[in-house]
Amino acid sequence: MTDAERLIARDDAVIAGVEKLRFFPLAVESGRGERLIEPGGRALIDLSASWTASGFGHGHEAIAAAIAHAAVDAPGASILSATHPSAVALAEQLIALVPSDLPPHARRVYLGHAGTDANDVAIRGCRHATGRPGILAFQNGYHGGLGTAQRISGVHVSAGVTADPAVAFLPYPDPYRPHTGDPATVVDDVLRLAAVELARGETAAVIVEPVQSDGGVIVPPPGLLAGLRALCDRHGAYLIVDEVKVGLGRTGRTHAFEHEGVVPDIVTLGKALGGGLPLSAAIGPAEVLDEPVASALMTTTGNPISCAAALAVLEIVRSGVATRNARERGDQLRGLLDEYVRSGRPGASRVGDVRGRGLSLGLELVADRRSAEPDAVLTAKAVYRAWQLGAVAYPVRGNVIELTPPLTISAEAIDRAAAILTAALDDAALGAVSDEEIAPFQGW
Ligand SMILES: Cc1ncc(COP(=O)(O)O)c(C=O)c1O
Repeated sequence: MTDAERLIARDDAVIAGVEKLRFFPLAVESGRGERLIEPGGRALIDLSASWTASGFGHGHEAIAAAIAHAAVDAPGASILSATHPSAVALAEQLIALVPSDLPPHARRVYLGHAGTDANDVAIRGCRHATGRPGILAFQNGYHGGLGTAQRISGVHVSAGVTADPAVAFLPYPDPYRPHTGDPATVVDDVLRLAAVELARGETAAVIVEPVQSDGGVIVPPPGLLAGLRALCDRHGAYLIVDEVKVGLGRTGRTHAFEHEGVVPDIVTLGKALGGGLPLSAAIGPAEVLDEPVASALMTTTGNPISCAAALAVLEIVRSGVATRNARERGDQLRGLLDEYVRSGRPGASRVGDVRGRGLSLGLELVADRRSAEPDAVLTAKAVYRAWQLGAVAYPVRGNVIELTPPLTISAEAIDRAAAILTAALDDAALGAVSDEEIAPFQGW
């Protein structure tokens, strides 16, 4: 047994299955930048960044220093019953970073632990402020893994989770899959459906991902967010843009909604915001986030160590360096993958699409390009083979490999990552991974 296998066996014996989403036998002992190190010393290129939660790389010096400093003389561990400087500074800076039509004094920030609770609190607040129960969300959307945020997530509901009683799901306009025969794959059709729903006057909020990530890395065609903005204005509903996955620079702009020039009512952030620590935020109107007082309580929210990490993260975001790198490295990776698709190599004909924005990319795998039949088994085998060859990437929506490396990744690492990924695709297409090898990994 290797050191990694021993650790995985211990994990099997003690860690709860309900929190596992595993695709191959990965154990990690340490990390630096875009590198992950397995027990035993093998280095892998991280093309997930822990689903973007390590968005600025592992062990980022400035973030690590901020955490270490904050841990030494932490002013408690909570903002429930006492305030402290880093929570207040973080909220002030988030209000400055996220655009709004409201003046600063009419805005508030909820500080939470995860995207899940930020979205939960945002939805609850919209229901309370409007007195309406309805939520308009999207099929294949992902907003959280527990509670209301889970029950309004299309991904979970289509997997059997009971939907929130007042949620309605719209199709997310998908420019890549007109062949699916979905009734609405174009923006105008989706907006027409949204208008019908909103006209009932029962909708508190529309919640939308600016790139539908876990739903298959789908960049919507232009006009979706702007159309939803106009409809929300007309019908008195709030527009919540969920930037938890792709916010803070990943798409090549600070906020992904900027690509559409809209101003949301509420923006939720998480994952990368904490620089590797658990931290999320909902930034929105005071009328949504202030009332009822003491109705969204978790003891360690606003934790000063997490807040200090986030303040270091916001400094990186404001510097623009990571955002620019997301654009440049995203173009580089996409170019290399497009080149592969044209190469005639063994796995190339199995790539249905290379898509995304910045360093949020998706590689869709199909049985063959003409039928475009999704190939989830090949996808499971390709990510398994990539892990064997030295890269970490996970599938979403069954047959799409999501590529979200740390925004700090170097050009040289992107070259290596593309070489590993394309070799893995070739090998998987040629049958290098057996059904038995992937069988223990149920993934989603
Ligand atoms: C768009 C989006 N929103 C919310 C969440 C939930 O975040 P968390 O898992 O941190 O609760 C996720 C997680 O994947 C996400 O992708």
